[in-house]
Amino acid sequence: MNENMKIPQHIGIIMDGNGRWATRRGLTRSEGHRAGADNLKSLCLYLNKLGVKYLSVYAFSTENFKREKKEVDYLMNLFVSMFKKEFNVLMDNNVKVLFSGRKEPLNKKVLVAMDEIKEATKNNTGCCLNICLNYGGQSEIVDMTKKICALYKENVIELEDIDVTLINKNLYQDLPPLDLVIRTSGELRLSNFMMYQASYAEFYFTDTLFPDFNEREFDKALEAFNKRNRTFGG
Ligand code: IPE
Ligand code: IPE
Ligand code: MG
Repeated sequence: MNENMKIPQHIGIIMDGNGRWATRRGLTRSEGHRAGADNLKSLCLYLNKLGVKYLSVYAFSTENFKREKKEVDYLMNLFVSMFKKEFNVLMDNNVKVLFSGRKEPLNKKVLVAMDEIKEATKNNTGCCLNICLNYGGQSEIVDMTKKICALYKENVIELEDIDVTLINKNLYQDLPPLDLVIRTSGELRLSNFMMYQASYAEFYFTDTLFPDFNEREFDKALEAFNKRNRTFGG
């Protein structure tokens, strides 16, 4: 990697293609999810080393509950075991873990594991890993609207106080906007991922499936990002 590369402050990754990765190898979809989770860990440590401040990853969408129960159950158990197992590595590397998404209908075991890792890493000052789990960008906007309406109803705010800063504060997390959104596996869509935060993001699409999206592949995305001319309407 070139030393003079600009490092985006906030990167989003739509980690897609685990199923296809497994199927192509004659493995089960679950094995693909396991490989994806292992890859996320290495990638997160790499980005932390590069100095990326915020990394938002799409781990499970509100729509993913439509999948077969067997796959959903496997993913939920994988989240619990990952949060417990990777805890030390994240602590050692000063990574702070946040979550975005609705609690309902996640099960108690998942919610407890999420709370534990969030609580334990809250004072870490390295990369903020925002895990979008049971996340939907549209639900996030609905939930934000409800929070703001409640503030209005309770006379905490006036209509004139509603602006982009207040909206951002009432999203699941008050993070800076996304600079770069990466989607693996060749699909060219957002699939309900952080559309509000991605308003001025640069997009990078690759055919590489997520379990194969390694440091070298990330460097290619970074190179592409560095060639973009961001004018923000100016
Ligand atoms: C992404 O991989 C992981 C999740 C959605 C949880 P997929 O499971 O969507 O993999 P493909 O798209 O079927 O290959
Ligand atoms: C988006 O991938 C969700 C995650 C990566 C967690 P999907 O595989 O669910 O999205 P679609 O169905 O291709 O739009
Ligand atoms: Mg997919």
